[in-house]
Amino acid sequence: MGRRGFAFPPMFFLLGLFWFLPPASAQRTNTIGTCQTETLGREFITSYMEDCGNSSQFEVQIAGYFAFTSVSLSISNYTGDGARFEKKIMVNQGEMVRVRLPESVGIKGVTKFSKVVLIKADKDISVVSVSNKHVSPETTVLYPVSSLGNEHYIVTPSTDSLDSYPEFSVMTYEDRNSVEVHVKGKLHYLTKVYSTGNKLEIKLLAFQGYQFQGIADLSGTRIVSEKPVAVLVGQVCFCNNTKCSHVFEQLLPVCSWGTTYIIPPLPWQEVDERVYITASQSTTVLYQLGEQPETVTLAGGSVLQLPVKPSIPVYVSANVGIQVVFYSVGTAIPNSSHAFLMNVPDVASYCRMYSINAQEGFENFALMVANTSETGAIILDNQPLRDVVWNQVPGTEFVWGMHTLGPAIRSHAVEHPSSPFALLSVGTAAMDSYGIPGSCRKNVTFKCQTESLQIKEQLEMCKNVFLQAAAIASSFHSLPQQYPFLLLPLLKRRGPSMGENLGEKLPVENILSSS
Ligand SMILES: *[C@@H]1O[C@H](CO)[C@@H](O)[C@H](O)[C@H]1NC(C)=O
Ligand SMILES: *[C@@H]1O[C@H](CO)[C@@H](O)[C@H](O)[C@H]1NC(C)=O
Ligand SMILES: *[C@@H]1O[C@H](CO)[C@@H](O)[C@H](O)[C@H]1NC(C)=O
Ligand SMILES: *[C@@H]1O[C@H](CO)[C@@H](O)[C@H](O)[C@H]1NC(C)=O
Ligand SMILES: *[C@@H]1O[C@H](CO)[C@@H](O)[C@H](O)[C@H]1NC(C)=O
Ligand SMILES: *[C@@H]1O[C@H](CO)[C@@H](O)[C@H](O)[C@H]1NC(C)=O
Repeated sequence: MGRRGFAFPPMFFLLGLFWFLPPASAQRTNTIGTCQTETLGREFITSYMEDCGNSSQFEVQIAGYFAFTSVSLSISNYTGDGARFEKKIMVNQGEMVRVRLPESVGIKGVTKFSKVVLIKADKDISVVSVSNKHVSPETTVLYPVSSLGNEHYIVTPSTDSLDSYPEFSVMTYEDRNSVEVHVKGKLHYLTKVYSTGNKLEIKLLAFQGYQFQGIADLSGTRIVSEKPVAVLVGQVCFCNNTKCSHVFEQLLPVCSWGTTYIIPPLPWQEVDERVYITASQSTTVLYQLGEQPETVTLAGGSVLQLPVKPSIPVYVSANVGIQVVFYSVGTAIPNSSHAFLMNVPDVASYCRMYSINAQEGFENFALMVANTSETGAIILDNQPLRDVVWNQVPGTEFVWGMHTLGPAIRSHAVEHPSSPFALLSVGTAAMDSYGIPGSCRKNVTFKCQTESLQIKEQLEMCKNVFLQAAAIASSFHSLPQQYPFLLLPLLKRRGPSMGENLGEKLPVENILSSS
């Protein structure tokens, strides 16, 4: 494979990659200080937006990381007559449990609703939400309540089709909330139509939500809320030839957006897919599709659409946080397959341990992005991962590759002893496909919490945690929240790096002109 792909002198290359990583002190603290992108947590809220067809199936897949984790699922007033849905289950370490939700949890049309699904556990879990298992399955990773935020930008796939329309849903947690919707595009609300420039103000009670549907693409619509909210975006139903697709995804709040992203191409891709890049303020974006980098300046609220071509990875970086959402349009030839929407993880959020769930009846793949010199040490279910062909991501020190997982529904563990990497869980079947980022299993931090361990053993493990956290933090500037005491020694040891200083002073154009 070699290093043929580098189009720049080494100096540019170094700057290109490191300059865009924000300094640790500026990262993810800009709004309410809790904007850490976590997939593990103890409380989650979600809802099920309108989808294709009239026989929907809704499911949550709950992954456990500790023995005897007890999980409760509840939906208040799910039938509209005040009745409450309640279910309790037990999940063990390394287990994934699927829970079917009642069909009536689905929400139709433009409406306020009280059918917010609440998932509560006594130890950390991760949750994947699945909609419409049979007609057109679509999944999203849920972010826990602790990762929710107050500012979001909607991004919905744009289609020319008349029978397809975008939708989004805003849900609140245990307090009353007020939500402002700064409309971009055109949508229905109450009995009127609102368009670009209009502002809607909505009051929500605890565990209430509002579902909107658009008449035109709603990308760039800004949601600002008094208290944190969960936001889902998607498209009701898009039919192409033989297949109808409902797509949806939970968005990340602006305060947890990253600055550097790599989008690997899908293994089965035959047509151009799309990636949507959203800016919340004036932002300089550098992107590279193949050999040539380009730069653009995006105004706040604008959404840039780029093609993702078969076999060609995309590299994107920006001077401030951006939102990057991947849209697989579904292959048209020979059979039309299912479309899906997926958040792309930013490089700073890569972690060392993932759990991914292979989906039943699919050809399942682990799609990975890793540091070029670290690919040899990746482990799948306790075995070294050997059969992967790694391909360079031009413009970076990273490679991408994929591994085929079995067709059985089960949870797999993929890890690296020291170097963070990205893992996307994707799959295809005769006329279906799905894509979902792997859940970061930070079980390095769990060990210190295990109550049954002897004190000495516990200290030993905490020491390992300390070392591992230090390794992650020094390469990616992200510290586990649970260990604030690590911050000082680490910052001191690391000192100011060249990249950071340049990052504060040089605009992107200067760096480019040095090439
Ligand atoms: C809706 O339900 C009816 C009756 O159950 C069925 O005949 C029809 O095929 C369904 N339509 C879709 C799109 O699933
Ligand atoms: C339940 O929901 C229905 C319809 O959304 C609403 O009219 C009713 O007041 C709710 N009942 C309770 C007890 O919340
Ligand atoms: C993480 O947890 C898994 C079980 O889910 C265990 O097999 C593995 O050894 C743990 N890894 C570390 C580094 O603690
Ligand atoms: C729909 O199908 C047609 C014909 O196969 C194809 O050319 C077109 O690109 C598809 N549209 C989308 C949005 O995938
Ligand atoms: C296309 O779909 C049909 C019907 O599901 C199936 O029999 C055929 O094998 C598919 N072709 C390909 C190339 O996947
Ligand atoms: C990639 O790995 C090498 C060797 O472990 C390390 O020196 C380098 O900093 C890593 N690069 C990135 C971008 O993490």
